[in-house]
Amino acid sequence: MDHAYPGTVISMTLAKLSAQARTFAVLPLIETPRHDTRLPIVPSRGRPPRVHLWHIGCQMNDADREMIAERLREIGCLPECSLEDADLVILITCTVRQNAEQKVYGKFRELTPWKREREGRAIAMTGCMAVEHGEQLLRTLPDLDYVFDVRDADGFFERLQQTYSIDLDGPLPAPPSDRISAYVSVMGGCNEMCTYCIVPFVRGRESSRRVEDIVEQVRRLVDSGVREVTLLGQNVNSYMDPADGRRLWHLLEAVDQVPGLARLRFLTSHPRNATRELFAAMRDLPTVCEALHLPVQAGHDDLLRRMRRVYTVAEYRERIAEAREMIPDLSLSTDIIVGFAGETPDEFAGTRALLEEVGFDVVHLQAYSVRPGTAAARRPDDIPTDEKKRRLNELLALQKECAGRINARLLGEKVEVLLEGRGEDGRMYGRSRQNRMVWCEGTLQASVGDIVAATVTGTSAWQLEARVEESASA
Ligand code: SAH
Ligand code: SF4
Ligand code: F3S
Repeated sequence: MDHAYPGTVISMTLAKLSAQARTFAVLPLIETPRHDTRLPIVPSRGRPPRVHLWHIGCQMNDADREMIAERLREIGCLPECSLEDADLVILITCTVRQNAEQKVYGKFRELTPWKREREGRAIAMTGCMAVEHGEQLLRTLPDLDYVFDVRDADGFFERLQQTYSIDLDGPLPAPPSDRISAYVSVMGGCNEMCTYCIVPFVRGRESSRRVEDIVEQVRRLVDSGVREVTLLGQNVNSYMDPADGRRLWHLLEAVDQVPGLARLRFLTSHPRNATRELFAAMRDLPTVCEALHLPVQAGHDDLLRRMRRVYTVAEYRERIAEAREMIPDLSLSTDIIVGFAGETPDEFAGTRALLEEVGFDVVHLQAYSVRPGTAAARRPDDIPTDEKKRRLNELLALQKECAGRINARLLGEKVEVLLEGRGEDGRMYGRSRQNRMVWCEGTLQASVGDIVAATVTGTSAWQLEARVEESASA
């Protein structure tokens, strides 16, 4: 295999920035000064410091939460404790839309009485909102003690060791886990500069990990019982091994070889990097699931241009047609923003028409939210909230109908289900390779983590019901 193979990616040049543009710098650890109105952080000696973790946002934050928990264990702290029991809370935040920030502020308000209840408790904030606002957060939230960046968290963990005078007898062992699915970050950052999006500013420029390091991490996860892995990047199909230029499809080939791995997924792909090589890997590699998340954002060329998505509706259609032709049983999902600055009725109608035409299995719909410092923030946010809601509801109703029709075609078909848990009614549930939620009858002998073959007996827009025929694997 030629590892320097560059693939057919449209262009890798970085978007140009003006002199006034925001930076992509990593945020250093910032702490509260000890002398003002705040309570001092007093170490609770005699037991390992207990840490409560809370997160919102995308799967990147799920992966970061895992990483933070692991690092806490390494320095002798106990992560994933209940709030009542905790000495420290770490909030892992998101800033992609205004309402994500509002949720963080809401959570913070709940923590104020918690913190004041016992001396020595502390609150730290990390994640994208922490990078966005930095030191200013310590001024506006008097009970906040630390702000740090997950991309450079050493300073924070060192400070915890000093503050709590942790007496290390070695890292605390990780408790046994019954987790069957895990996220693995394969690259950070994003080099696209979609005009509405704050992610490149808070996650920085793209940087990929080595194939071998990722394979090793997956191997360890599989050894601990994980059966399904999702490789993560904001723009994961621009993945490139920093040493030899291997692309995402090479990485999929390598991870597919890990013994015991049952399923492999990847998120989020950008349409401009969705190549035939990638589709071929999806078709040919046994573990790679037939599910493609390909955010389109809008269905009109003028809108796409204003969003700087660098493809046309026709090009998007071609990519999808190619993917569908190459991968039988492919399920497709996408993201849409409604009410973007200046979205005309005609442009909105284009998005509606694209949804009708393509027939996505899942559509994540969001109303446009202005993000300070982005290029689109210079345009007036001129679609009134009520109109954004109306457009959102129109597409939601359309998508419900569409997904209902797609799923109805599966009646009587066979699906392969990876069982994830048991519901209150005793039925087990899990996901098909196409990532559809399936409720299973006849799984009395089965356990979580099994893969079963089932026949679809009922469908709705959001899930399937199925009867288990045989155990395909244990
Ligand atoms: N890298 C991915 C997604 C990143 S953010 C991609 O390129 O698709 C996840 C989703 O949030 C985006 O797909 C977009 O639909 C939505 N989003 C991002 N910025 C937004 C904004 N300012 N307002 C509303 N939705 C936004
Ligand atoms: Fe944001 Fe995704 Fe565009 Fe990157 S590709 S700027 S993360 S929407
Ligand atoms: Fe939110 Fe940051 Fe993800 S802004 S969507 S948590 S990359």
